[in-house]
This record gives sequence, structure tokens and C-alpha cells, in this order.
Amino acid sequence: MTFLSETDAIGRDLPRRDGSAKVMGTATYAYETPLDDAVYLHLIQATIARGRVTEWDTAAAEALDGVVAVLTPRNAERLASTEDRELAVLQDEEIHFRGQVIAAVVADSSEVARQAAAVVRVGYAQVAHDAELRADDDNLYAPEKVNAGFPTDTAEGDVEAAMAAAEVTVEETYTTAMYHNNPMEPHATAALWDPAGEGFLTLWDSTQGVHPTRSKVASVFGLDKAQIRVVCPYVGGGFGSKGQPHVNVVLAALAARAVPGRPVRLALTRQQMFSLVGYRTPTIQRCRLGADRGGTLSAVAIDVVEQTSRIKEFAEQTGVPARMMYASPNRRTTHRLAALDVPVPSWMRAPGECPGMFGPEVAMDELAERLGMDPVDLRIRNEPDVEPGSGKPFSSRDLVGCLREGAARFGWSTRDPRPGVRRQGDWLVGTGVAASTYPVSRMSESTATIRREGDRYITEIGAADLGTGTWTTLPQIAADALGVPVAHVDVRIGDTDYPMASVAGGSSGMTTWGSAVVEAARAFREKYGTEPPDGAEASGSVGPPDDRYAMHAFGAQFAEAHVHADTGEVRVRHLLGVFAAGRIINPRTARSQFIGGMTMGLSMALHESSVLDPRTGHVVNHDFAEYHITANADVAKIEAHWLPEHDTHVNAMGSKGIGEIGIVGTAAAVSNAVWHACGVRVRDLPITLDKVL
Ligand code: MOS
Repeated sequence: MTFLSETDAIGRDLPRRDGSAKVMGTATYAYETPLDDAVYLHLIQATIARGRVTEWDTAAAEALDGVVAVLTPRNAERLASTEDRELAVLQDEEIHFRGQVIAAVVADSSEVARQAAAVVRVGYAQVAHDAELRADDDNLYAPEKVNAGFPTDTAEGDVEAAMAAAEVTVEETYTTAMYHNNPMEPHATAALWDPAGEGFLTLWDSTQGVHPTRSKVASVFGLDKAQIRVVCPYVGGGFGSKGQPHVNVVLAALAARAVPGRPVRLALTRQQMFSLVGYRTPTIQRCRLGADRGGTLSAVAIDVVEQTSRIKEFAEQTGVPARMMYASPNRRTTHRLAALDVPVPSWMRAPGECPGMFGPEVAMDELAERLGMDPVDLRIRNEPDVEPGSGKPFSSRDLVGCLREGAARFGWSTRDPRPGVRRQGDWLVGTGVAASTYPVSRMSESTATIRREGDRYITEIGAADLGTGTWTTLPQIAADALGVPVAHVDVRIGDTDYPMASVAGGSSGMTTWGSAVVEAARAFREKYGTEPPDGAEASGSVGPPDDRYAMHAFGAQFAEAHVHADTGEVRVRHLLGVFAAGRIINPRTARSQFIGGMTMGLSMALHESSVLDPRTGHVVNHDFAEYHITANADVAKIEAHWLPEHDTHVNAMGSKGIGEIGIVGTAAAVSNAVWHACGVRVRDLPITLDKVL
């Protein structure tokens, strides 16, 4: 494979092309799309967790000046497909979770819509519900597969025998909390139904994928994809919650079809987002490690219990990273689900790896403690030659390099391994380490078109920039592949008028869309050489991955925690991550992804926790006053570094995905540092002061 290097477009820390528009407020978000004569939609949510609506009183709402319609299951359009029960909104009067949408008001202003929603009265027939995840529940079942198509259970060798024979063991249960994605921009959709001809639906939606959204909406409404356009130039974050359309998209479209010719605007409130747009399931992880006195692992097992909703299954693949992290001849992973009367869980930054590297990476620290061995050395000792499970060679794996580089930068060699012996004034101080990993994924469908317009090279692909840098990094890839200056390349993304692009999910965007762009550039150069005429155009599509290799990014996270000796308050003064994540397209946007992920991991370690009251099925802390998120003042010093890595097997750029690995392992590193500071093992997130006192 040859790389054109004359432009040096890849690897430059170019500022984000959308940066000034976002900062200055000129970037147009979905809800702000200029549309004349718009109406506004406000949702009404169930206040019981299970049952049905038996009585409606919408008269007071309908009588309000400015109300256009009150949509209920009794008058709403029948959808063509109700197979996806999360999206089958207003189709019947059954209630499957608290917060489910039962009705919606359309009005001339958002204020009137909200006021009208507040005066709709309903009567319920309530039945008993179950909204509590329990590890010993007899309702637990094994799903057919877990997220991303992984097998539910895996087993090699004999874990029981290996545990019985092991010289040193760890057997503990770890838990992670329920988390909500909470991007800064709430989910918002504007919709316009033009009834002319067969009809045409335009959606301006805050989404991680305009094409996947179009496909889903087409199937729900029984429309042809050609009858739908989805537009989304800018996204104020998603973290997975905008990776698939949620009920807001269907409701906006339903309402638009009820008022043809008038645009409808819908923005979810922060509180509504806690029941309607997905969340990360809480997890219960029974982890077992067995080793000899020298620290060589003989058994690795993780049995995961987590929840899904009764109406739609989502099985977070929490046990998956334990399948490939460390060498061990005996290994077992299982996933069991409880289907509860709760909202539908979904993707949240690094589904699987994020919770699944908490239990095992704290367990590794506990094993190091019991062995009297350094936790960095323990991980290096158990480095596999090939991917455990599959036996495939790694396309590249430099976890050891990350651990060593991180240890050197963090000053690990002077660490006293004893817990609870360092004090700075009233604070106990400790340091901890954990590993990170995230798979390199490539989606199967994406196409890019490159066209010469004057002295510009226009690259079109219906990709997304959810704050990750796509507007900036795709031109770098195109310029590199075309051998032209990056300043001559424009990209057009975020619109189904541009060619098919996969979802911005699973850290797959650059691998997938970048590969399509490189293919388009190759076709362009083959066709036109280095002197393309005005109007010259060529397309290219992503090909299949090279499945002879196991492809993953790796990292090492180091944390310094301070625990107040009297109050138990925990502060993380320093976070340092080192990553081996392939070629870095743009150090500026990459650093932002790494430290953003690490900050979210710190948030998971110390603050975030959705408190679901099983008596009501309600997430009680459903706003930023009570759902605490790490803020600037909590972060102190945070560093992300990376090793030079150019993996020629993963894709034409040599890059691995970097959007998610930063969150992986951070919470374990913090918990391990808290133990080192004060001697208390916190196995249940978040690490609040009651757990260390
Ligand atoms: Mo990411 S949770 O796959 O958007």
C-alpha cells in the first residue's frame, strides 16, 4: 500500500472547520432550522410503569387558544410497521414503562403546547410492575446474541478446576450504575410533510446518522426512502443516544403528517430524555481470576447480569472485552438479562467495553495486591501472543507500550505499593492503573463521491459530525488520497442527498467513511490523473475488513486520587492516558476525543448514577441538578498521549477508532487509586464518600 505524502494532510492539527460557527452560534441545529409558520409539539408521558390508559379528557387542552391538535392513540395515524415497539408510539393504550409517550399536543407556540399538555387528564388501569434489577432473579434469561452480534456466552477449558487449583484467586462482584447519555443538545427534530404527489417528508433531526434514520422512518411509515430526506449538518453531542432514531423522530413525523404543509418542531426537555432516548443498563459483574504465585493467569471468568425492557431487547456486551484482554487457558463469559418494565436501554459511549472493563480491571488490581506484584507488571505478564478465543493474530497490539509509556510519564516507578500510607494534609493520596481497549469496527455500507468544481475538490458523503471532528478530518483524508492541499478540499456531510454513509457509532466513522473516501479518490485519480477537468467526478465505496486479523485499539489509564481523611470526599487530581490507536488523523481533534472520553470515565467513577425508584419505575434524579456530571472544576490535570502506530491492516489510513476508548478503563483506574489512597476497595460505582468511610 502506498501513501501520498506530498500534502502532509494526515497528522496535522488543523482546527475544526465547524468550530467558529459552533462557538459563534451560527451553526444551525435541528430545532433552529429556519422554517416559516411552524407549529410546536409537546409530549405527554405516562406516570405509571405498567398498565393502560382507560380514560381521556382532552377538552381543556383543545379549548386553549393556539392548540392545533391533541394526538392520542384514539386519533393518531396507524403506522405501517410496529415491529420496533420502542417506535410504535400512539398505536395503542398500553403502558410499558414510566415516561412512555401516551399523547402529544400540537400548538402554535411551544408555550401553549406545553401548557395544553399539562391540562390533559387521563385515567389508568394499573397493574403490578417490576423495575428492579436483581442478580438472583429467576426471570433472568440468556439473549440469543449481545450487542454488535457477539455470542452471549463463551467458554474455554475448565474455569472451576483452574480456580480450585490456582495459588491465588479473586472472586468478587462489581456493579456499575444506570447512566444516561445527556448530550448538551437535547434530542430535537423538525419535520415537514409535503402532501403533493405521493408525499415527501423532510426531517431536520439531531442524529448520528441521516441515512440510518431515513431507512428506519421509511419502514415505520411505509414510505419509500426516496420520499424522505434527513438533514443534520451539526450535532451537539450524542454519545450513542442519537445513533438510532428514538420516539421523538416518529412523533415529529406523525405530527407533521397530521398538519400537512406546516413544519413541526419538537425538542425534548432534559427530563424527558431520561425515559425516551436510551441509557446504559446497570450491570452486575461476578468476576473470577485465578493465577499462580508468579502472576500468570490460569482462569478468567465474568458472569454479567443486566437489564433490558420488556418491549425491546438491548443486550449490552459487557463480558466481551474479558474475552480478549489477557492470556488464560481457562475462560468463561456469560450474559443474563432481566426484561423489566423500564425504558429501552441502548448505546452509550463504548457499550460493552466501558462497563466491562470496570470489574475485570479492578479485579486485576486486587489480584496484584494479593500477589504482592506491581499491577503494571501483572498486566504485562499476561499479554497474549494471539487474540484469546479466536486465535487470530492482532493487526497490532501495543498495550505493553501504553503501560510502559504511561508508567514513565506518570512517575510510577517511585510508587510505594502499600495502601493508605501517603498523606497531604487532610488528604490521603493514591495512584492506580487500568487498561483500555476498543475494537476497530468497519460498517458494511458507505459511499463517497469526489467532484472537481473550479479549483475545489468536493467530497460528498452522508456522514455525521456529532462534535467528533468529521468536518475537519474527512478533508484531511481526501486531500491525502488525492495528493492535493487540504485547503482545496471541501466536504459535504449530514444530508441524505449525499451518498449512503453508516452511523457514527462504534468508533467506526473514520474507518468506514474514510475508506470510502480513499476509494473514491483512487477512482478519481485513475480516471483523471493529476489534471482533472472541471466537473470531473468519481465515487468509491468501503470494502470488507481484512478478517484474518483481530483489530483493536489499546490504552493505559493512570489516576491519582485524593480521599479526604475525615469526610471521605474523593478528588482526582491527575488523569493520564496513553493510547495505541493507529495513525492519528488530526492530533487536535484526537486529543479532544481522548480527554473527552476520559472525563466521561471520571464522571462515571465519581458522579454519574441514574436512581431508578423500583416502586414507581421512575428515574428520580432526571435533571442536571441531581444527575451529577463531572465539570471543569472536577477534572484538574488531564493528559492524553499516544504511541506512533500505523496499522496497515485496519484500513487505508492506518487509523483505529478513537471516539470511545477514552472512557474505557478510567473508572477502574480511579477505583484502584482510591484503594491505594485509603485502603478501601470500592466495587460499586459511583465512588461516593459513604463507600470509603
Ligand atoms: Mo457510540 S455509543 O457507538 O455512538
